[in-house]
Amino acid sequence: MAQLLWQPAFPTNRGVFAVLLKGVGKLRLVVVWRETWRRRRKMFIKQFRTGGDRNFGYLIADAASKKTLVIDPSFSPERIVDFACEKGYQIVYVFVTHDHFDHTNGNATIERLTGARPLLYGDTDPKTGVCVEDGSSFPLGKLEVKIIHTPGHTTDSICLYVGNSLFTGDTLFVGKVGGTDLGAGARAEYDSLREKLLPLPDETRVFPGHDYGVAPESTIGVERRSNPFLIQPDFEAFLDLKRNWLAYKEEHGIA
Ligand SMILES: [Fe+2]
Repeated sequence: MAQLLWQPAFPTNRGVFAVLLKGVGKLRLVVVWRETWRRRRKMFIKQFRTGGDRNFGYLIADAASKKTLVIDPSFSPERIVDFACEKGYQIVYVFVTHDHFDHTNGNATIERLTGARPLLYGDTDPKTGVCVEDGSSFPLGKLEVKIIHTPGHTTDSICLYVGNSLFTGDTLFVGKVGGTDLGAGARAEYDSLREKLLPLPDETRVFPGHDYGVAPESTIGVERRSNPFLIQPDFEAFLDLKRNWLAYKEEHGIA
């Protein structure tokens, strides 16, 4: 009769695999958490409700060097500069997403307070000699500020891409897109959205120029899946929605 001479002191094969899988899962969690933590430590973002028509302004700082950029100070340049001073942040750039009064009206004040010349599309930064144009980039400590030209709402509209965050001005809002005419402007905006913004990764954070949506920020993934203008199958449907936006809003209970 066979006798059981030895019994393993460790779990059976299935048990070993389970333990291993658990370990891999935990390791993955640690890696994701570490990456998120590293990113957060690298970049600081503050969203300001600046006034006007629910306008948003932004301060983005490289946490290590404290080098900072401001986007669309508009109605609240003093408040943003005060915040930067309190935190010890040094404002090295001011970008303006497009040439509409409710985005440019704080330019003279912030330039006086910081010495940084507000930069719009087509301007050349006097410090770096870099021109604000599609694909150009500006160093901000260890971060990089990439310019994406997104004509449509205006011909000079830009979005700024820093880390995994996209500052969209009046090109893309939460659940909406920028106002345009129903001709060349709409076509340009459609192309900008489709070709330049939607290919960005799902997890890209979206920070708009106005608080028009159900939340003050979103992601490219959420907007791609749910923004009424971005789920339209083609330009004709996009244009049709622009024509009938008021009726659509009423029908869908959108504020
Ligand atoms: Fe605008």
